Amino acid sequence: MKKLRIFIKKYLPGPLIDILRLLRDKYFCVDYIRAILIYPLNMIKSFVVSKHYFPNPTDAAKRFFNYNYELLPNSFLRDQERGVANIDSAIEKTGLSIGYPAWNLLYYSLLCSLSDISREVVVIETGTNQGYSTIVLAQALNDINANGYVHTVDLSESNIELAKKNVEKAGLIKYVKFYKANAVAFLEDFAKKVKYVDFIFIDDLHEFSHIKKEFSIIYPRIVACNGKAYFDNTSQGGVRNALRFIKKAYPGDIIEFRNCSWNPPGNAIWQSY
Ligand SMILES: C[S@@+](CC[C@H](N)C(=O)[O-])C[C@H]1O[C@@H](n2cnc3c(N)ncnc32)[C@H](O)[C@@H]1O
Repeated sequence: MKKLRIFIKKYLPGPLIDILRLLRDKYFCVDYIRAILIYPLNMIKSFVVSKHYFPNPTDAAKRFFNYNYELLPNSFLRDQERGVANIDSAIEKTGLSIGYPAWNLLYYSLLCSLSDISREVVVIETGTNQGYSTIVLAQALNDINANGYVHTVDLSESNIELAKKNVEKAGLIKYVKFYKANAVAFLEDFAKKVKYVDFIFIDDLHEFSHIKKEFSIIYPRIVACNGKAYFDNTSQGGVRNALRFIKKAYPGDIIEFRNCSWNPPGNAIWQSY
């Protein structure tokens, strides 16, 4: 057995070793085979994209101001939101974050997803910015006493430094691991190291091909635990088109929430059947 392992490591190419590792896991195997069988079929279907999945696109910002700040799940976030009356002052206080009510949608989406916290929970955020959605995700882990981390990645060193300070102020630093990288490269590397991903918040570069690539990398890890992918800026542009593609090409459902976030508004959640 040991000799076989040495042989495999020495002579087989990396991707083939990855496949063998996946096949070792019974549950993963079933999902993976299903995905491999259905994917080509759905790829063909994806060429015919009908519009009725995402009607009435809008570009009006749906971030709320002057609401009851007590509804926010973290006290530092509440402090930052007090007195914020428009998008400009919101950017000053919380950067390019999704804002209320999207923060709460994100918080409850994760909190209500984690039915098994006996194993390590794996959460990813692509696009840390100043760490405000990171705080929301980490708060959900804290509130259900989960064992695990929010792995958050951003291209910008200065963003990460600021986000670290903010997450520290929010009292949640023990739940977050920060990475400075291109999100695609990060996901490629990360997907080799973990067997499953419970929840990914994709919110870095909102271009069609970029999101499509990110999703294709992380997809097998999400289906491995019936996890979820959460998207921002869903009603227009690259994210909207990527969701239309994903809806056609991958076996799963998308639910969109139009009345939140901004520029363009909308959040959505994908989960496999
Ligand atoms: C919209 S902001 C993220 C907001 C954050 N998720 C929140 O809700 O608070 C987008 C972030 O993605 C980062 N970014 C852009 N392209 C990226 C890439 N290719 N890889 C990693 N980060 C990227 C930007 O530096 C920026 O901080």
